[in-house]
Amino acid sequence: MLSACSSSSSSGDSGDKKDSGKLEIFSWWTGAGEEDGLKALIKLFEEKYPDVPIENAAVAGGAGTNAKAVLASRMQGNDPPATFQVHGGAELNEGWVKAGKMEPIDDLYEKEGLNDKFPKDLIDMVSKDGKIYSVPVNIHRGNVLWYNKKVFEENDLEAPTTFDEFFKVADQLKAKGITPLALGDKEPWTATQVFENVLLGKLGAEEYLKLWNGELAFDDPKVVEAIETFKKMLSYINEDHSSRNWQDASQLVAKGEAAMNMMGDWAKGYFVNDLKLKVNEDFGYVATPETEGQFMVITDTFGLPKGVKKADDVKKFLAVLGSVEGQDAFNPLKGSIPARTDADVSKYDQYGKDTMEDFKAAKLAPSLAHGSAAPEGYVTKVNQAVNIFVTQKDVKGFVESLKAASSELK
Ligand code: BGC
Repeated sequence: MLSACSSSSSSGDSGDKKDSGKLEIFSWWTGAGEEDGLKALIKLFEEKYPDVPIENAAVAGGAGTNAKAVLASRMQGNDPPATFQVHGGAELNEGWVKAGKMEPIDDLYEKEGLNDKFPKDLIDMVSKDGKIYSVPVNIHRGNVLWYNKKVFEENDLEAPTTFDEFFKVADQLKAKGITPLALGDKEPWTATQVFENVLLGKLGAEEYLKLWNGELAFDDPKVVEAIETFKKMLSYINEDHSSRNWQDASQLVAKGEAAMNMMGDWAKGYFVNDLKLKVNEDFGYVATPETEGQFMVITDTFGLPKGVKKADDVKKFLAVLGSVEGQDAFNPLKGSIPARTDADVSKYDQYGKDTMEDFKAAKLAPSLAHGSAAPEGYVTKVNQAVNIFVTQKDVKGFVESLKAASSELK
């Protein structure tokens, strides 16, 4: 079921819709933990440009599970939204840019003086063949292990930083009747996200990157070891994982019914804004096992689709989204850190501050689960393979599926 949300106006649903004349901002940030940042950004824009009404055309579903399909059919039908959420990396460059659906926005970068305001690696993630195609609003970290502080304290446990420690802690929790690891893979990308974090931990950023350009095969012994580790982790998850989404799984940790989960830092936005938990009091965070010093990057960006009316208004929105003010309105609520390097650090909580520091020094790895590492066709096949693996736990079969999917990497 698709559901659409619309804050400033009606509509937002697909179908044969009339042009409302409003600037349509398309994303999957609806409800629980997702929309506060977007609303703050829209509010800021509306204050600056009261004569440019916005339509919040968000489609529910974590990681764009539903929104991406709606967007694809609209793009195919030459009915693009004014601007849409798209991950930097393959999703943007090998997807919409390659298909000839996006306008370069180098002129906007020039006009707004953005060229030296984002880390070079990030600009590379939104560029193809020397042209820039979108503005990053944030940087999310994917390799975070969140844990319930009280559960850890009561059981005299330390947050695990290695796989050995993880399994030791997990066994102790299990013995006490507490679910060690929460998972909500009703939408399969969440399990893929755990898997990629295990890959990063076992391979390190450099080798992890080689998976996506074909230099490291999926039957490499190190990858098989990662899969075995992932399989072992799956023996510590909640039984009802396939009926929960990422918010429902995070709730298990919030309530102390589960001790840990591995989720991108939008979970922090959810913990703090929706569940009213306190950073470092109710919940703590560490990098997922053996990924300290490495950063699974997910960047939400917005660009200018070809053929949109009012391109100048779209650029106004992109300028606000790319400004210090815009980023500092959005990110403290969203859980992410600003993409700009000159944002106001004092606006961020301890998690945000730590993450900004970590980002500066870390080795970066693009997320597969969130479309940055590889094209959409490949991600879809991996999600399917992971989903089957979670129930069947067939290592050989999983390796074969990953190998077969590699044809999509070309
Ligand atoms: C997006 C985040 C979002 C998360 C969960 C990711 O793909 O980059 O902004 O919070 O999905 O929906």
